[in-house]
Amino acid sequence: MGHLGIGVLASGRGSNFQSIIDAVERGYLRVTLRVLITDNPAAFAIERAKNHGIEHLVMRPKQFASREDYFERIAAEMKRREVGLVVLAGFMRIVGKPLINAFPGRIMNIHPALLPSFPGLHGQRQALDYGVKISGCTVHFVDEGMDTGPVIIQAAVPVRDDDTEDSLSARILAFEHKIYPEAIRLFSEGRLSVAGRRVVVKGEDIEGVGLTHPPAGP
Ligand code: GRF
Repeated sequence: MGHLGIGVLASGRGSNFQSIIDAVERGYLRVTLRVLITDNPAAFAIERAKNHGIEHLVMRPKQFASREDYFERIAAEMKRREVGLVVLAGFMRIVGKPLINAFPGRIMNIHPALLPSFPGLHGQRQALDYGVKISGCTVHFVDEGMDTGPVIIQAAVPVRDDDTEDSLSARILAFEHKIYPEAIRLFSEGRLSVAGRRVVVKGEDIEGVGLTHPPAGP
């Protein structure tokens, strides 16, 4: 099996990026992190890239004539580095068509809610405001919609009565850091296939993957 090259897109803190770096460094993920591309020169993700010897590029949309041009160029930079999977890790933009077309079925995102509930910004706050008792996080393939692509892995996380946006976000984040490396690993091992909206995982009983508790007995 070839060594998968990963390109990361991030806009901020980059804790998911860090969880992927850590998974590579401890040998859980057998992939190469080829480049971080960020739209934000102040992103802390850049420090993480520097600390781990990963190339980074700052590419700001306003440097480009159009949104199309911007994503065309991102696609070109990824291709040039032989990236086989693009990983969105807190990238605060909707991915443009040129990038999606250049990497069909090869772009993943993580969202801090159980999709299709609470897409878009502030998934954790939306869950609190709605009053759900269970929320969580979702890794999914990216299509042209906002958080609409086929679901790869989800983790369920309980919402407590005394939760604030911060406390719920922190509880969810701990699960994000588990399921994102797991989804990338399944992809890198060629074990994910997409049938319509469903992502099928080959060769493993994943019953219970991501659940907060094992299924209770009768
Ligand atoms: C995470 O909550 C992720 O689910 C969402 O944006 C946030 C990014 O956090 N897409 P970080 O930059 O990875 O720490």
